[in-house]
Parts: sequence; C-alpha cells; structure tokens
Amino acid sequence: MAAVGKAMAGANNKPAMIRKLLMRVLVVLVAGAILGAFVVAIVMPQLDWSASARPPAAEKRLASLVLHRWVRRNAAVQSNPLAPSPDNLKAGRAEFIEHCAICHGADGSAHTPLGADFYPPVARLERGAPGWTDGELYFIIAAGIRYTGMPGFGAHHPPADIWRMILWIRHLPRLSGQERTELRKEAAQLMEHDGRN
Ligand code: HEC
Repeated sequence: MAAVGKAMAGANNKPAMIRKLLMRVLVVLVAGAILGAFVVAIVMPQLDWSASARPPAAEKRLASLVLHRWVRRNAAVQSNPLAPSPDNLKAGRAEFIEHCAICHGADGSAHTPLGADFYPPVARLERGAPGWTDGELYFIIAAGIRYTGMPGFGAHHPPADIWRMILWIRHLPRLSGQERTELRKEAAQLMEHDGRN
C-alpha cells in the first residue's frame, strides 16, 4: 500500500514540475525580450551608422566570410555561355557604363564623379574580379547584396545582359590607357546628362 501511495504522489507532482519548468522558460523569454529591446533602443543607436567610416579589419573579414559562403551556397556552377566577341564586349561595356559605372567607376576602379562614400566601400573590379567564378558573379549581380548598396539586377535584365557585363568585367584588367580615358569621359558625360533630366 505504501508503495502505491508513493507512486501516486510522484504522478501528482508531474503537472507541478511541468508548470514550474514552463514558468522558468517564460521568465527567460521575457528577460531575453527586454534585453533585446534594450540593445536595439539604447545600445545600437550609440554605434557609428555613418557611411563615411571605414569598416574595421575584423568586420571586413567576417563580412567577407559570410558573403563568400552565401554566394558559394547559392550560385550555379556554370561558366559564361557567351564568347568575348567584339560585339558582346561592346554591348557589355555599354551596359556596364549605364548601370554600374556610377558606383564602380567606368574602369572598375571605384573612382566616380559621384563624390560619395559607401559602407562597406564599393568593390573594386578593375582586376576583373578574379576571386569569383562566372556563376558566382552572375549570382551577385542578379541578386545584389543586402545592406551594402549593391543592387540586384536579375529581375529587370535578361540573363544575356548580365553575362555580357561579366565579359566586360573580365576585360577590365586589359584596358589600354586610351580606353580608360575614353571610358571615364563617357561615364562622366552620362552622369551630366542624367543630372539634367
Ligand atoms: C549604387 C551603387 C552600386 C551600383 C549601381 C552597382 N554596384 Fe556593385 N557593388 C556596390 C557595393 C557597395 C559593393 C560592395 C558590397 C560588399 O562589400 O559586400 C558592390 C559589389 C559588387 C560585386 C562584388 C565584388 C567583390 O569582389 O566583392 C560585384 C561583382 C558587383 N558589385 C558588380 C556590379 C555590376 C556588374 C553592376 C552593374 C550592373 C553593379 N555592381 C552596380 C555598389 C554598386
């Protein structure tokens, strides 16, 4: 009889234990929410949110690691289906000047007449983006990179346009001095034209 009584007492204690556990979880959740609200409302506005600061080395490394892993995870393994024919390069050059030069510079050097700072800084493409495969470049240009200023072009441009711009980016390291001068002039003219509209 005594054994049965003990077992019943144990069974009766179970709901009480569960209630206690749930209370503890609730307390932890509420404390977490209060701490989260404190961090967002009080701590974060004290950080530097200006675009003219330079990212510290540790932040740069961390962001680069996340970006590379994200791109590798999502980019298709493929090489450029278009050949760097004079026509394709010419079209890629025009598209790049129209859509990319305002930030990346006509020659990919990130020197632009815009006269503005980005955080993180605009990536330099004059070496032809050797760290990325064709498929990865396609993914970056089509998707864009959230919170950086790099827009996504995939929804408004047919794939062939993007592949031609990639041909042009790969060509950037081989620009002659004269080509570079012409490019900068053309990009500056385009900006003046846009400014008047
Ligand atoms: C409004 C400014 C802006 C425009 C327009 C823009 N970009 Fe970018 N782009 C950026 C910024 C800022 C970054 C750096 C993002 C980062 O650090 O993660 C970037 C990064 C990139 C990268 C990644 C390079 C690397 O090594 O990390 C590629 C490739 C690129 N842009 C291509 C293009 C192309 C092609 C176009 C035109 C179709 C274009 N971008 C238009 C601002 C711009």
